[in-house]
Amino acid sequence: MTQTEDRTGTGLALFPPGFRWGVATASYQIEGATGEDGRAPSIWDTFARTSGRVHLGQTGDVACDHYHRYAEDVALMRELGLGTYRFSVAWPRVRPDGTGPVNPRGLDFYDRLVDALLASGIEPMATLYHWDLPQVLEDRGGWTVRETAHHFADYATAVHDRLGDRVATWTTLNEPWCSAFLGYASGDQAPGRTEPGAAFRAAHHLLLGHGLAARALKAAGAREVSVTVNLTPVSPRDPQDRHDVAAAALVDGLHNRIFLDPLLKGRYPADMLEHAARFTGLEHIAGGDEGIIGAPIDLLGVNYYAPTLVAAKVGTPSSDRFPGTEGVEYLEPDLPVTAMGWPVEADGLRRLLVRLAHDYPSVPMMITENGAAYHDSAVDGRVADAERVDYLRSHLLAVHRAIGEGADLRGYLAWSLLDNFEWAYGYDKRFGLVHVDYETQRRTLKDSALWYSGVVGRNGI
Ligand code: FCB
Repeated sequence: MTQTEDRTGTGLALFPPGFRWGVATASYQIEGATGEDGRAPSIWDTFARTSGRVHLGQTGDVACDHYHRYAEDVALMRELGLGTYRFSVAWPRVRPDGTGPVNPRGLDFYDRLVDALLASGIEPMATLYHWDLPQVLEDRGGWTVRETAHHFADYATAVHDRLGDRVATWTTLNEPWCSAFLGYASGDQAPGRTEPGAAFRAAHHLLLGHGLAARALKAAGAREVSVTVNLTPVSPRDPQDRHDVAAAALVDGLHNRIFLDPLLKGRYPADMLEHAARFTGLEHIAGGDEGIIGAPIDLLGVNYYAPTLVAAKVGTPSSDRFPGTEGVEYLEPDLPVTAMGWPVEADGLRRLLVRLAHDYPSVPMMITENGAAYHDSAVDGRVADAERVDYLRSHLLAVHRAIGEGADLRGYLAWSLLDNFEWAYGYDKRFGLVHVDYETQRRTLKDSALWYSGVVGRNGI
């Protein structure tokens, strides 16, 4: 019997002892206070202010007002019995001009937050980049230029200098695929550029920034260094059709392997270098970069929301998000969808984790985001979000199965603590375990929060 099997005879799926349970958020999505204590604009402030970019022209100016209400939010996590909180630090609070002097007032906020978490018995996990690049750095080329990677490592060091005595787990980047390909190829996210070649260069400089920051953090004594990637299992419509299989391999390369291989094997996959070369020269990849990017990390953060299904179809134009995928059709699988329109398939998470354990065996993993948006409403102080409970339950059981099949999973963080600013969708999509009334900033625990709290308390389902 493995440690995850039912030992109680009650049908409880138990997780390994020490499994870390919690929730995740990101700075621009919840903090608000974008003009306070010396914070400078980020690319998201600019993007949100650009007409037509964000649903109803909404911005993160106020968001969940977490900057002022963090104590209340930490108290909610404590009430739920959560052990880990993954938050992100806003670069433009810490180094408003991107590169220059540290702004102590910006760091003061995270200092207070970390102290409040520790006083509540909650482990703080800091992500250094969840998409809010200082606008001044974008004005100098953003992630398409190499200097940004070095500035990122300097900023990471400044944050560690202040919080490293209390924060043990450090995540460099959140979802570099989104930063590079949604930011610079499709333009769906900030900075909203639509230059495929720039996206490939951005991807490399993000990875290099990770490597440089990871090295600096380790040298400064950080205990656990990680990076978070958003992954999706990509399936061919017909596994017997070699064209469908080739289409799936290409999309898997552009979504998953282009990040996983350099991070965990220290080299880009040959097919992806060839593919990138269709859009940009490769001079931006200097000798030695792959070694920096592939230095060992302590934990791989995996964000999973939905699976991907593709087929080969002659004449299909390329997706803007996956440059060079002419002839690839993205199919809508016959599955229920969330309010985002994302298909729900928990087994996709199991398959993904088992594949990662097989292809990249050296690194322990943690689910750093997983969750779903639904059309919730608070009625008489209650939010009955049965669909979210189902989503979380089925995905947690998938994680449990993957552990049983050999995946080294160390924890699970639900996205998200609070309803928040869902990027280009504004406040329209609610992912929280806690409902936020944006008029009053009133927080209401949804049924899913109470259910999740029970799972955490039992370390099992
Ligand atoms: C992920 C992001 C996170 C949130 C969820 C729904 O891609 O990391 O900020 O938007 O999706």
